[in-house]
Amino acid sequence: MRITAIRGFSDILPGEVEIWQAVEAKAREVFSAYNFSEIRIPILEKTELFSRSIGEATDIVEKEMYTFEDRDSRSADMSEATKLTLRPEGTAGVVRAYVESEMYKSEPARKLYYMGPMFRRERPQKGRMRQFHQIGAEALGRGDPFIDAEILLLLSDFFNAVGLTEPSLQLNSLGDSECRPKYREKLWAFLKEREESLCENCRRRIDRNPLRVLDCKEPGCIRATKDAPSILDWLCANCQEHFQTVQRLLRETNVQFTLNPRMVRGLDYYCRTTFEWTTTQLGSQSAVAAGGRYDGLVQELGGPAIPGVGFAMGVERLTMLLRTQEIAAANGPLCYVVWVGETARDWVFPLVHRLRQKGLSVEMEGEARSLKSQMRRADKLKAVSVLIVGDDELAKGKVVLRNMVTREQQEIRLDRIEAELTTRKAN
Ligand code: HAM
Repeated sequence: MRITAIRGFSDILPGEVEIWQAVEAKAREVFSAYNFSEIRIPILEKTELFSRSIGEATDIVEKEMYTFEDRDSRSADMSEATKLTLRPEGTAGVVRAYVESEMYKSEPARKLYYMGPMFRRERPQKGRMRQFHQIGAEALGRGDPFIDAEILLLLSDFFNAVGLTEPSLQLNSLGDSECRPKYREKLWAFLKEREESLCENCRRRIDRNPLRVLDCKEPGCIRATKDAPSILDWLCANCQEHFQTVQRLLRETNVQFTLNPRMVRGLDYYCRTTFEWTTTQLGSQSAVAAGGRYDGLVQELGGPAIPGVGFAMGVERLTMLLRTQEIAAANGPLCYVVWVGETARDWVFPLVHRLRQKGLSVEMEGEARSLKSQMRRADKLKAVSVLIVGDDELAKGKVVLRNMVTREQQEIRLDRIEAELTTRKAN
């Protein structure tokens, strides 16, 4: 019986993977311009890391995490958390690594980025996977609004660099520990009065996480909360000033945005600036990238009081958007070596090895095939050029090099093969 992949987990096959590589390469380029360094963190972490940072009363922690007991948990130190979870996002792990390695001791201000798979047991649909990939960045150690704006500019530059003009930026501020509790109380009272009109899920949320009610997609809840108090009217003076500066910096750098006071995000660590870049082309899964500020998280995870701000983008969603645009056809090998006769084959095999060692992409067959069949194969592989080596050619000391695009061919001396292919690679 055939074994298939798990629902919501997919392969990224050749043909598709090139666009992923292009996205990753562009991201690295832009990250480097903004002076971010790469960090690689484990895929598996202690469950407690996520419940403490993302929040117990969030959808992710309540129902979407892949959590299991480690095999030897019984014999392990029981004072330690024994449950493990496949990471549903990257921020918690990056902050844990920052605290654990005491990066803040030598230099608290760190700009870090990461790429890799994340896992959430959501209902799969277009743009929503159970294993998906994020490219994310975290700027730790800076509380000023300039870094919030910098993060948004980085994203805007990245979208431009990959040729996406469509995503639009929605911006909000969630206040801080001074003003948010007051807003939360106000919202709680508002929701209590309308409890009857809310869905079952939201009724449960009123006491546990009232802000999440604003994010509910149920028509009844949208109607009932239409006139809900806006967080932006409740910001304290410091949060107000921070948010105003972020907006001013975006205006000065020509980044368009709209304010959305109902955008609350699905993770609890946020404060102040939060944002989502959305598109109309992906159906209901419209967020391509999202993030915000999380000033309490480093401390929550056992470090000093150090602020942070960051984002993550969904690579599946990005590549879906890019697929709708033109992508350069992937090239095959630089050279396909056709050989005729066993002497030629034995001469070709070490040549191919030498060329590959020089970083040239070269392919050859192992079994004898007709010249015609090998030429067909070169075409199929989209080889840029073909080198034809037969016993006669070797005796003459010259081989034929054919340009598969222009169909021109020329005779070249054996000792010129590498130089000739290197020039073609450069062009
Ligand atoms: P998030 O909004 O949960 O934030 O996810 C960020 C992005 O990951 C989403 O906008 C979306 O593009 C993609 N994404 C999320 N879930 C899925 C899924 N099931 N399938 C496909 N794509 C998905 C975070 O994860 C935060 N850690 C972002 C952050 C970094 N905030 C501060 N720093």
